[in-house]
Amino acid sequence: MVAYPYSCPDIREEDIQAVTNLLTSGAFLSQGPEITAFEQEICDQTGSRHAIVCNSGTAALHLAYLALESGPTRGLLTTPVTFLATANAAVMCGAPVRFADVDRDTGNMTPETIRNALRDNEAAAAPAPLAILAPVHLGGRPCDMPAIKALADEHGLAVVEDAAHAMGATYRDASGETFEVGSCAHCDIAIFSFHAIKHICMGEGGVLCTNDDALADRARTYRNHGIIRNPDAWLSPPEADAPWYYEMHELGWNYRATDLVCALGRSQLRRLAEGGDHRRRLAAAYDAALGSTFGATGAVTAPALPSDERGHAWHLYPIAVDFEKAGLTKGAVMRALAERGVGAQVHYVPLHHQPFYKDVPHASLSGADAYYASTLSIPMHMKMDDAAVEIIVQEIQSVLKNGN
Ligand SMILES: Cc1ncc(COP(=O)(O)O)c(C=O)c1O
Repeated sequence: MVAYPYSCPDIREEDIQAVTNLLTSGAFLSQGPEITAFEQEICDQTGSRHAIVCNSGTAALHLAYLALESGPTRGLLTTPVTFLATANAAVMCGAPVRFADVDRDTGNMTPETIRNALRDNEAAAAPAPLAILAPVHLGGRPCDMPAIKALADEHGLAVVEDAAHAMGATYRDASGETFEVGSCAHCDIAIFSFHAIKHICMGEGGVLCTNDDALADRARTYRNHGIIRNPDAWLSPPEADAPWYYEMHELGWNYRATDLVCALGRSQLRRLAEGGDHRRRLAAAYDAALGSTFGATGAVTAPALPSDERGHAWHLYPIAVDFEKAGLTKGAVMRALAERGVGAQVHYVPLHHQPFYKDVPHASLSGADAYYASTLSIPMHMKMDDAAVEIIVQEIQSVLKNGN
């Protein structure tokens, strides 16, 4: 058992009670009032008009791309520094995928890297027909959404925010107005993941947020096998009274979440603000400890701060390590830290390095490669305190100094 895992779920007595209450209530457990209540609470939290809870963040991405009619002539532009799901869900729609580079310090796409990728695509011998732009708020740090949305509008692209890491994050526009990630103020659809180690843990789960009634309607239909229960939309309504009747016009999936996991999700959502405060405190403690410990050697730097520091959701705390300067490989550092009880992880193997995506044409992704070469996510979760931060930083210092 690692003393300091890089992340872990935060399950408390009230979560257990919420699930137990549902299990013992005689409720149907599958589809029921917990889902509806959870969806309303997510709307209240994010400010979005619709929230469509489903059984994973990947399902939410797939529903988002389906609702936006992704397909062979409606491709996706996204970042290579993300989990596979961001791109895979577009491939599931039969869409071409292209990658834009990222800022080498934050790992996020920027208006400049997106503009360059669009220019390079246009200049290619066979440009991909791009219709959807999916920025990822890596580690919980919001991208510059107002500028990205303006650029997307210029190029006629729909925007899907992959906010899997960013529940509770906020950002500002140039006038200083603050927006909640998920409000969809600068995108068509935003998705969150409720996987076990995300800010809200449902084991597996996710949600799609949108302010667009038609997109919400399509996503809800695709979530449940394409089933249409609204008689006004039926193509061949039965002549006789038929209360059981429904129609299917397009292929859908079973992406439904259950009442059972939504009871857990609702209980977790009540602690979102507490979690944000705790993670920000940990990040500040790391910044201070890393600055005072490594300031002189320069082998490690804390993550670059966003312009609006308080808006970061701190799902991950990725440090940048100059492994060459330290005279160690990333693998050796990870293994040595593990022996000292400190978990670490790499987010992520960039998608253009994956054999599956090797034939995707792309210009330089040097920002993504530099980010991949240097970053290591160190522990960041609700079960840590400031004392843990001190110990973890000391262990990192010791490994980098002694090499084991
Ligand atoms: C950036 C990103 N997008 C999408 C997903 C997919 O979410 P899920 O695991 O809930 O399917 C993840 C999962 O970790 C992720 O990190």
